Amino acid sequence: MQEGTLVLFTDRATQRLDLVRALDEVVPCHVRDAASVLPAGDCVGFVADIDLLQPAQLRGLRALIAEAPQLPRLFLMRSMGERSLSTARSLGASLCLPFDTAADTVAEAMRVHLTNPFPGMVRVPAPERGRPLVIARAADEAGAVLAGLLDSARQTGRVDSRLVDHGLDPILGAVGEAGLGAWLDTVRAYDDATYQHCLLVAGVAATFAIELGFSRRDREHLVRAALVHDVGKARIPLAILNKAGPLDADERATMSTHAALGHEILVEAGGFDASILSVVRHHHEMLDGSGYPDKLTGAAIPDIVRLITICDIYAALVERRPYRAPMPAPEALRILRGMEGKLDMALVRSFEHAVSKDVR
Ligand SMILES: [Fe+2]
Ligand SMILES: [Fe+2]
Repeated sequence: MQEGTLVLFTDRATQRLDLVRALDEVVPCHVRDAASVLPAGDCVGFVADIDLLQPAQLRGLRALIAEAPQLPRLFLMRSMGERSLSTARSLGASLCLPFDTAADTVAEAMRVHLTNPFPGMVRVPAPERGRPLVIARAADEAGAVLAGLLDSARQTGRVDSRLVDHGLDPILGAVGEAGLGAWLDTVRAYDDATYQHCLLVAGVAATFAIELGFSRRDREHLVRAALVHDVGKARIPLAILNKAGPLDADERATMSTHAALGHEILVEAGGFDASILSVVRHHHEMLDGSGYPDKLTGAAIPDIVRLITICDIYAALVERRPYRAPMPAPEALRILRGMEGKLDMALVRSFEHAVSKDVR
Protein backbone atom coordinates (compact mmCIF):
# COMPACT_ATOMS: atom_id res chain seq x y z
CA MET A 1 0.00 0.00 0.00
CA GLN A 2 1.11 3.54 -0.74
CA GLU A 3 2.12 5.96 2.00
CA GLY A 4 -0.18 8.89 2.71
CA THR A 5 -3.86 9.47 2.10
CA LEU A 6 -6.08 10.00 -0.90
CA VAL A 7 -9.09 12.33 -1.10
CA LEU A 8 -12.23 11.32 -2.97
CA PHE A 9 -14.12 14.54 -3.69
CA THR A 10 -17.64 13.47 -4.52
CA ASP A 11 -21.25 14.60 -4.35
CA ARG A 12 -22.54 11.02 -4.20
CA ALA A 13 -20.54 9.42 -1.42
CA THR A 14 -23.25 6.96 -0.42
CA GLN A 15 -23.43 5.60 -3.95
CA ARG A 16 -19.67 5.22 -4.28
CA LEU A 17 -18.84 2.97 -1.37
CA ASP A 18 -17.43 0.48 -3.88
CA LEU A 19 -15.04 3.18 -5.08
CA VAL A 20 -14.03 4.13 -1.54
CA ARG A 21 -13.29 0.46 -0.77
CA ALA A 22 -11.28 -0.02 -3.99
CA LEU A 23 -9.25 3.17 -3.44
CA ASP A 24 -8.68 2.20 0.19
CA GLU A 25 -6.82 -0.86 -1.08
CA VAL A 26 -4.32 1.51 -2.73
CA VAL A 27 -4.09 4.38 -0.25
CA PRO A 28 -6.27 5.14 2.80
CA CYS A 29 -9.13 7.13 1.29
CA HIS A 30 -10.96 10.10 2.82
CA VAL A 31 -14.29 11.16 1.36
CA ARG A 32 -14.86 14.86 1.06
CA ASP A 33 -17.71 16.97 -0.25
CA ALA A 34 -17.93 20.73 -0.80
CA ALA A 35 -18.67 21.33 2.90
CA SER A 36 -16.11 19.11 4.64
CA VAL A 37 -12.50 19.79 5.51
CA LEU A 38 -9.33 18.34 4.04
CA PRO A 39 -7.86 15.55 6.19
CA ALA A 40 -4.75 16.62 8.03
CA GLY A 41 -1.33 15.76 6.78
CA ASP A 42 -0.08 13.67 4.01
CA CYS A 43 -2.50 13.76 1.09
CA VAL A 44 -0.84 12.28 -2.02
CA GLY A 45 -3.55 12.78 -4.62
CA PHE A 46 -7.27 13.01 -5.20
CA VAL A 47 -10.12 11.73 -7.27
CA ALA A 48 -12.77 14.27 -8.33
CA ASP A 49 -16.19 12.71 -8.86
CA ILE A 50 -18.47 15.72 -9.36
CA ASP A 51 -20.48 17.45 -12.06
CA LEU A 52 -18.08 20.03 -13.49
CA LEU A 53 -21.02 22.03 -14.85
CA GLN A 54 -22.37 22.70 -11.32
CA PRO A 55 -20.85 25.98 -10.04
CA ALA A 56 -21.15 25.10 -6.33
CA GLN A 57 -19.36 21.78 -6.79
CA LEU A 58 -16.75 23.38 -8.98
CA ARG A 59 -16.11 25.96 -6.25
CA GLY A 60 -15.48 23.20 -3.74
CA LEU A 61 -13.12 21.39 -6.08
CA ARG A 62 -11.22 24.57 -6.79
CA ALA A 63 -10.81 25.18 -3.05
CA LEU A 64 -9.40 21.66 -2.71
CA ILE A 65 -6.97 22.25 -5.58
CA ALA A 66 -5.91 25.56 -4.02
CA GLU A 67 -4.99 23.68 -0.82
CA ALA A 68 -2.92 21.11 -2.69
CA PRO A 69 -2.07 22.43 -6.17
CA GLN A 70 0.81 20.04 -6.83
CA LEU A 71 -1.05 16.76 -6.30
CA PRO A 72 -2.03 14.36 -9.08
CA ARG A 73 -5.76 14.39 -9.73
CA LEU A 74 -7.96 11.91 -11.51
CA PHE A 75 -11.34 13.12 -12.77
CA LEU A 76 -14.43 10.95 -13.14
CA MET A 77 -16.41 12.77 -15.80
CA ARG A 78 -20.22 13.00 -15.85
CA SER A 79 -19.80 14.07 -19.46
CA MET A 80 -16.91 13.45 -21.83
CA GLY A 81 -18.11 16.41 -23.96
CA GLU A 82 -15.43 18.71 -25.29
CA ARG A 83 -16.31 21.49 -22.89
CA SER A 84 -16.38 19.35 -19.79
CA LEU A 85 -12.97 17.99 -20.80
CA SER A 86 -11.74 21.51 -21.35
CA THR A 87 -12.86 22.45 -17.82
CA ALA A 88 -11.09 19.37 -16.44
CA ARG A 89 -7.91 20.28 -18.29
CA SER A 90 -8.08 23.85 -17.03
CA LEU A 91 -8.22 22.38 -13.50
CA GLY A 92 -5.07 20.38 -14.13
CA ALA A 93 -6.65 16.92 -14.52
CA SER A 94 -3.97 14.22 -14.77
CA LEU A 95 -6.42 11.72 -16.21
CA CYS A 96 -10.13 11.84 -17.14
CA LEU A 97 -12.24 8.67 -17.03
CA PRO A 98 -16.01 8.26 -17.58
CA PHE A 99 -17.98 8.42 -14.29
CA ASP A 100 -19.15 4.82 -14.66
CA THR A 101 -15.65 3.34 -14.91
CA ALA A 102 -15.45 0.25 -12.66
CA ALA A 103 -14.16 1.03 -9.17
CA ASP A 104 -11.28 -1.45 -9.48
CA THR A 105 -10.17 0.18 -12.72
CA VAL A 106 -10.20 3.64 -11.14
CA ALA A 107 -8.20 2.36 -8.17
CA GLU A 108 -5.67 0.66 -10.43
CA ALA A 109 -5.32 3.81 -12.53
CA MET A 110 -4.66 5.81 -9.38
CA ARG A 111 -2.15 3.26 -8.11
CA VAL A 112 -0.20 3.34 -11.37
CA HIS A 113 -0.39 7.10 -11.52
CA LEU A 114 0.93 7.55 -7.99
CA THR A 115 3.92 5.33 -8.62
CA ASN A 116 4.58 6.25 -12.23
CA PRO A 117 2.72 9.09 -13.99
CA PHE A 118 0.99 8.00 -17.16
CA PRO A 119 3.24 8.16 -20.18
CA GLY A 120 1.99 10.74 -22.62
CA MET A 121 -0.22 12.52 -20.10
CA VAL A 122 0.44 16.20 -20.00
CA ARG A 123 0.35 17.59 -16.50
CA VAL A 124 -1.29 20.98 -16.73
CA PRO A 125 -0.07 23.32 -14.01
CA ALA A 126 -2.75 24.30 -11.51
CA PRO A 127 -4.17 27.39 -13.18
CA GLU A 128 -4.97 29.34 -10.05
CA ARG A 129 -1.37 29.72 -8.99
CA GLY A 130 -0.27 33.26 -9.70
CA ARG A 131 -3.74 34.58 -10.48
CA PRO A 132 -6.35 36.04 -8.17
CA LEU A 133 -8.65 33.38 -6.75
CA VAL A 134 -11.69 35.63 -7.13
CA ILE A 135 -11.10 35.72 -10.87
CA ALA A 136 -10.40 32.00 -11.12
CA ARG A 137 -13.60 31.13 -9.30
CA ALA A 138 -15.67 33.58 -11.31
CA ALA A 139 -14.21 32.26 -14.56
CA ASP A 140 -15.08 28.71 -13.53
CA GLU A 141 -18.62 29.63 -12.56
CA ALA A 142 -19.21 31.56 -15.76
CA GLY A 143 -17.40 28.84 -17.69
CA ALA A 144 -19.68 26.19 -16.23
CA VAL A 145 -22.71 28.22 -17.32
CA LEU A 146 -21.27 28.60 -20.78
CA ALA A 147 -20.37 24.92 -21.02
CA GLY A 148 -23.91 23.99 -19.99
CA LEU A 149 -25.34 26.36 -22.58
CA LEU A 150 -23.17 25.11 -25.44
CA ASP A 151 -23.32 21.42 -24.48
CA SER A 152 -27.10 21.40 -24.21
CA ALA A 153 -27.47 23.37 -27.46
CA ARG A 154 -25.17 20.85 -29.15
CA GLN A 155 -26.57 17.67 -27.63
CA THR A 156 -30.30 18.37 -27.29
CA GLY A 157 -30.81 21.56 -29.27
CA ARG A 158 -32.39 23.10 -26.18
CA VAL A 159 -31.10 25.82 -23.89
CA ASP A 160 -32.46 27.19 -20.62
CA SER A 161 -32.55 30.99 -20.48
CA ARG A 162 -32.50 30.90 -16.64
CA LEU A 163 -29.20 29.04 -16.61
CA VAL A 164 -27.43 31.90 -18.37
CA ASP A 165 -28.22 34.32 -15.56
CA HIS A 166 -26.03 32.37 -13.12
CA GLY A 167 -23.00 33.58 -15.09
CA LEU A 168 -23.74 37.31 -14.84
CA ASP A 169 -22.81 38.13 -11.24
CA PRO A 170 -19.49 36.26 -11.29
CA ILE A 171 -18.34 38.10 -14.42
CA LEU A 172 -19.50 41.56 -13.36
CA GLY A 173 -18.12 41.02 -9.85
CA ALA A 174 -14.73 39.73 -11.01
CA VAL A 175 -14.20 42.39 -13.65
CA GLY A 176 -15.40 45.13 -11.29
CA GLU A 177 -13.12 43.92 -8.50
CA ALA A 178 -9.97 42.71 -10.25
CA GLY A 179 -10.13 44.49 -13.59
CA LEU A 180 -10.35 43.43 -17.22
CA GLY A 181 -6.63 42.66 -17.56
CA ALA A 182 -6.81 39.97 -14.85
CA TRP A 183 -9.94 38.53 -16.43
CA LEU A 184 -8.28 38.34 -19.87
CA ASP A 185 -5.17 36.68 -18.42
CA THR A 186 -7.26 34.05 -16.65
CA VAL A 187 -9.69 33.28 -19.45
CA ARG A 188 -6.91 32.93 -22.01
CA ALA A 189 -5.88 29.75 -20.14
CA TYR A 190 -8.95 27.94 -21.52
CA ASP A 191 -7.90 25.92 -24.52
CA ASP A 192 -11.37 25.52 -26.03
CA ALA A 193 -11.54 28.40 -28.52
CA THR A 194 -15.30 29.03 -28.25
CA TYR A 195 -15.28 28.83 -24.49
CA GLN A 196 -12.36 31.25 -24.23
CA HIS A 197 -13.86 33.63 -26.79
CA CYS A 198 -17.32 33.86 -25.19
CA LEU A 199 -15.84 34.46 -21.72
CA LEU A 200 -13.56 37.14 -23.15
CA VAL A 201 -16.45 38.89 -24.91
CA ALA A 202 -18.50 38.72 -21.70
CA GLY A 203 -15.66 40.24 -19.62
CA VAL A 204 -15.05 42.96 -22.19
CA ALA A 205 -18.80 43.70 -22.32
CA ALA A 206 -18.94 43.89 -18.51
CA THR A 207 -16.08 46.41 -18.51
CA PHE A 208 -17.75 48.44 -21.24
CA ALA A 209 -21.11 48.46 -19.39
CA ILE A 210 -19.48 49.52 -16.11
CA GLU A 211 -17.54 52.28 -17.88
CA LEU A 212 -20.63 53.55 -19.70
CA GLY A 213 -22.40 53.90 -16.33
CA PHE A 214 -25.13 51.39 -17.13
CA SER A 215 -27.64 50.50 -14.43
CA ARG A 216 -27.21 47.09 -12.81
CA ARG A 217 -30.06 45.73 -14.92
CA ASP A 218 -28.53 47.03 -18.16
CA ARG A 219 -25.07 45.73 -17.21
CA GLU A 220 -26.53 42.30 -16.68
CA HIS A 221 -28.39 42.51 -19.96
CA LEU A 222 -25.26 43.35 -21.94
CA VAL A 223 -23.28 40.54 -20.29
CA ARG A 224 -26.17 38.14 -20.91
CA ALA A 225 -26.09 39.10 -24.60
CA ALA A 226 -22.32 38.61 -24.70
CA LEU A 227 -22.46 35.17 -23.08
CA VAL A 228 -24.97 33.83 -25.62
CA HIS A 229 -23.91 35.78 -28.71
CA ASP A 230 -22.12 32.80 -30.32
CA VAL A 231 -24.46 30.02 -29.13
CA GLY A 232 -24.88 29.04 -32.80
CA LYS A 233 -21.30 27.73 -32.72
CA ALA A 234 -22.76 24.76 -30.84
CA ARG A 235 -23.90 23.56 -34.28
CA ILE A 236 -20.56 24.17 -36.02
CA PRO A 237 -18.20 21.14 -36.21
CA LEU A 238 -15.52 21.18 -33.50
CA ALA A 239 -12.92 20.50 -36.18
CA ILE A 240 -13.63 23.98 -37.55
CA LEU A 241 -14.10 25.70 -34.18
CA ASN A 242 -10.85 24.37 -32.76
CA LYS A 243 -8.79 24.30 -35.95
CA ALA A 244 -5.15 25.00 -35.20
CA GLY A 245 -4.78 27.54 -38.00
CA PRO A 246 -6.72 30.09 -40.07
CA LEU A 247 -9.95 28.86 -41.72
CA ASP A 248 -10.14 28.37 -45.49
CA ALA A 249 -12.99 29.86 -47.57
CA ASP A 250 -15.34 26.86 -47.18
CA GLU A 251 -14.71 26.67 -43.45
CA ARG A 252 -15.35 30.40 -43.11
CA ALA A 253 -18.66 29.99 -44.97
CA THR A 254 -19.67 27.20 -42.57
CA MET A 255 -18.57 29.27 -39.58
CA SER A 256 -20.60 32.28 -40.72
CA THR A 257 -23.82 30.28 -40.45
CA HIS A 258 -23.47 30.39 -36.65
CA ALA A 259 -25.28 33.74 -36.36
CA ALA A 260 -28.51 32.54 -37.99
CA LEU A 261 -28.20 29.13 -36.29
CA GLY A 262 -27.83 30.76 -32.88
CA HIS A 263 -30.92 32.88 -33.49
CA GLU A 264 -32.83 29.73 -34.44
CA ILE A 265 -31.68 27.93 -31.27
CA LEU A 266 -32.77 30.75 -28.98
CA VAL A 267 -36.11 31.31 -30.73
CA GLU A 268 -36.86 27.60 -30.28
CA ALA A 269 -35.67 27.69 -26.66
CA GLY A 270 -37.90 30.65 -25.75
CA GLY A 271 -37.25 32.96 -22.80
CA PHE A 272 -34.86 35.34 -24.58
CA ASP A 273 -36.08 38.85 -25.39
CA ALA A 274 -35.96 40.53 -28.80
CA SER A 275 -32.73 42.45 -28.13
CA ILE A 276 -30.84 39.27 -27.19
CA LEU A 277 -32.19 37.53 -30.28
CA SER A 278 -31.05 40.51 -32.36
CA VAL A 279 -27.53 40.39 -30.89
CA VAL A 280 -27.22 36.69 -31.65
CA ARG A 281 -28.39 37.07 -35.25
CA HIS A 282 -26.78 40.41 -36.09
CA HIS A 283 -23.49 40.72 -34.21
CA HIS A 284 -21.58 40.31 -37.50
CA GLU A 285 -23.55 43.04 -39.33
CA MET A 286 -21.60 46.20 -40.29
CA LEU A 287 -23.05 49.72 -40.58
CA ASP A 288 -22.08 49.86 -44.28
CA GLY A 289 -24.03 46.68 -45.12
CA SER A 290 -20.96 44.51 -45.60
CA GLY A 291 -21.78 42.13 -42.73
CA TYR A 292 -23.97 39.04 -42.40
CA PRO A 293 -26.43 37.32 -42.38
CA ASP A 294 -28.95 40.03 -43.38
CA LYS A 295 -26.61 42.78 -44.67
CA LEU A 296 -28.30 45.33 -42.38
CA THR A 297 -27.19 48.95 -42.63
CA GLY A 298 -26.99 51.95 -40.30
CA ALA A 299 -30.09 52.60 -38.23
CA ALA A 300 -31.35 49.05 -38.72
CA ILE A 301 -28.62 47.89 -36.34
CA PRO A 302 -29.67 48.50 -32.70
CA ASP A 303 -27.29 50.00 -30.13
CA ILE A 304 -26.92 46.80 -28.11
CA VAL A 305 -25.83 44.97 -31.26
CA ARG A 306 -23.29 47.72 -32.05
CA LEU A 307 -21.88 47.41 -28.52
CA ILE A 308 -21.52 43.64 -28.70
CA THR A 309 -20.02 43.81 -32.20
CA ILE A 310 -17.22 46.03 -30.89
CA CYS A 311 -16.63 43.76 -27.86
CA ASP A 312 -16.67 40.71 -30.14
CA ILE A 313 -14.09 42.01 -32.61
CA TYR A 314 -11.83 43.25 -29.83
CA ALA A 315 -12.03 39.92 -27.97
CA ALA A 316 -11.28 37.97 -31.17
CA LEU A 317 -8.15 40.07 -31.71
CA VAL A 318 -6.77 39.73 -28.18
CA GLU A 319 -7.60 36.06 -27.61
CA ARG A 320 -4.98 33.33 -27.55
CA ARG A 321 -5.13 30.90 -30.44
CA PRO A 322 -2.85 27.91 -31.04
CA TYR A 323 -1.33 29.59 -34.07
CA ARG A 324 -0.84 33.11 -32.77
CA ALA A 325 -0.13 35.04 -29.61
CA PRO A 326 -2.72 37.47 -28.23
CA MET A 327 -2.56 40.80 -30.03
CA PRO A 328 -1.49 43.66 -27.72
CA ALA A 329 -4.38 45.92 -26.70
CA PRO A 330 -3.08 49.09 -28.47
CA GLU A 331 -2.87 47.25 -31.79
CA ALA A 332 -6.36 45.79 -31.39
CA LEU A 333 -7.72 49.25 -30.61
CA ARG A 334 -5.96 50.65 -33.67
CA ILE A 335 -7.75 48.07 -35.83
CA LEU A 336 -11.11 49.07 -34.33
CA ARG A 337 -10.36 52.75 -35.07
CA GLY A 338 -9.59 51.75 -38.65
CA MET A 339 -13.09 50.33 -39.12
CA GLU A 340 -14.75 53.73 -39.67
CA GLY A 341 -17.94 53.31 -41.69
CA LYS A 342 -18.41 49.77 -40.37
CA LEU A 343 -18.50 50.40 -36.61
CA ASP A 344 -20.13 53.18 -34.58
CA MET A 345 -17.09 55.42 -34.00
CA ALA A 346 -18.61 57.24 -31.02
CA LEU A 347 -18.96 53.85 -29.31
CA VAL A 348 -15.46 52.82 -30.38
CA ARG A 349 -14.08 55.93 -28.64
CA SER A 350 -16.00 55.11 -25.45
CA PHE A 351 -14.82 51.53 -25.72
CA GLU A 352 -11.21 52.60 -26.05
CA HIS A 353 -11.57 54.74 -22.96
CA ALA A 354 -13.15 51.82 -21.07
CA VAL A 355 -10.61 49.13 -21.87
CA SER A 356 -7.45 51.24 -21.92
CA LYS A 357 -7.48 51.63 -18.16
CA ASP A 358 -6.21 48.23 -17.19
CA VAL A 359 -5.16 46.15 -20.17
CA ARG A 360 -1.72 45.84 -21.60
FE1 LIG B 1 -20.02 35.37 -33.84
FE1 LIG C 1 -18.06 36.07 -31.27
